[in-house]
Amino acid sequence: MSKPEKTQEARHVAIIMDGNGRWAKRKHLPRVMGHRKGVEAVRELVRSLKDTPVECLTLYAFSSENWKRPEDEVDDLMNLMRKFIKSDLPEFIANDVRLKIIGDWQSLASDIVEMLEDALAKTAHGSRTLAVALNYGGQAEIAQAAAKAAAAGEVTERSIAANLYTADLPPLDLLIRTSGEVRLSNFLLWQAAYAEMIFTEVLWPDFTPEHLQDALDQFAGRERRFGGR
Ligand code: FPP
Repeated sequence: MSKPEKTQEARHVAIIMDGNGRWAKRKHLPRVMGHRKGVEAVRELVRSLKDTPVECLTLYAFSSENWKRPEDEVDDLMNLMRKFIKSDLPEFIANDVRLKIIGDWQSLASDIVEMLEDALAKTAHGSRTLAVALNYGGQAEIAQAAAKAAAAGEVTERSIAANLYTADLPPLDLLIRTSGEVRLSNFLLWQAAYAEMIFTEVLWPDFTPEHLQDALDQFAGRERRFGGR
C-alpha cells in the first residue's frame, strides 16, 4: 500500500546570504555596493513572503566572526542595518511582518539596539516572522542554551532547544546558501539537524523571489525521513 501523496510546505526557511563582495567585484564596484544591493534583495524577498507558505524567514546578516572584517566594511554593514530598519519598519508593520533578532544583538552600538527594540515592539503582533541574525554564532547559542538548561537543573535535547533563540519559531525546514559555498559557517547548527539544504551558485544580490520559489519547489519534492525509513 503506497503512502498518500502529500505536498510538503516549508514553514521555516533560513538563508546564508553570501556573495555580495563577489557580485560587486564582477561589476567593478566597491564592496559596499554589493551589500547595498543585498539589502534590496532582502526587501523584495520579505515582500514576497505573503505569496508563499513560509511563516518564518531567518537571515544571516552579521555573524559573530564578521567583526574580523576591515573596520570600514563593518561600519558599512551597520549603517545599512540602521537604514534598513528605518526605511522598512513602516512596511513591516503594514504587511504584518514580525521582526525578530537572534544573536548577541544587545552588544551592538546603542543607537542600533534602541532602533531594534523599537522595531521589535512595533511589529510584535505580526503573523509572519523575519528573523535577522546579528552578531550571531551557532556554537555560542548552543553553549548558552545548555548553560541555561543546566542552571534550571535539566540538560536534555528538549530543554536545550527551549533555550535557543529560535524556541518560539517552527522547526527549520530548509536552509539555503547562495554563491556556491558549501558550508554552514556557524549558522543555526542545532536547528539544521534535520533541515533540507540547498546550495545555489546565485550570488546574494541576484537572488529573487523566483529563486526562493524554485527552492520551495525543490523542497516539496524532497523525501524527509528524520532518521527513519
Ligand atoms: C556575505 O557576502 C554577506 C554578508 C557578510 C552580509 C550580508 C548582509 C546583507 C545582505 C545586508 C544587510 C542585511 C540586512 C538584513 C539589512 P560577502 O561579503 O561575504 O561576499 P563575498 O564572499 O563574495 O566576498
